[in-house]
Amino acid sequence: MLISERMLGALNEQIGHEYSASLQYTAIAAYFDCETLPLLSSHFFDQAEEEKEHAHKIIKFVLDTGGKVAIPAIPAIPAPQNTFQFTEEAVGLSLAQEKKVSAQINALVHIAKDENDYTTEQFLQWFVQEQLEEVSSMEDLLSIVQRAGEGNLLRVEEYLARKGGKGAGFKNLGGED
Ligand code: FEO
Repeated sequence: MLISERMLGALNEQIGHEYSASLQYTAIAAYFDCETLPLLSSHFFDQAEEEKEHAHKIIKFVLDTGGKVAIPAIPAIPAPQNTFQFTEEAVGLSLAQEKKVSAQINALVHIAKDENDYTTEQFLQWFVQEQLEEVSSMEDLLSIVQRAGEGNLLRVEEYLARKGGKGAGFKNLGGED
């Protein structure tokens, strides 16, 4: 195996965090769909898919290093928050989650450096850059929501439409409406 047991354990834990983030975004996408805000729903549905891709990226890396993938037990993953009083609360929670993931990635980089593990350190650079983009775009979305106000959420939908939102999150899955 190309990486240490300590690094392997931390990467396996991160796989759980990425799936956990995906579940939280799925719950937020469902909430917005319920509120008839299709572009917000689609935006968070896409975020949920991205988090799954992050988990898969780490799984592939662990396998490439000859490590054993051990997805953490479900009780280790807290249930996502499913209901929100305001849109701002859901988007604010998303920003907090992205900041938490950034701290988790930084902690992984720290372990890689500590272990003189240049392979993992280099692999993690993609995540460092990705988190910068995700925190920044979630900050933008939160400030758009705050500026629009809860009574003007169609403006947020317009903002997402201009950004190229598809507006068909769960409906893309097919099946009956
Ligand atoms: Fe994969 Fe945005 O955390």
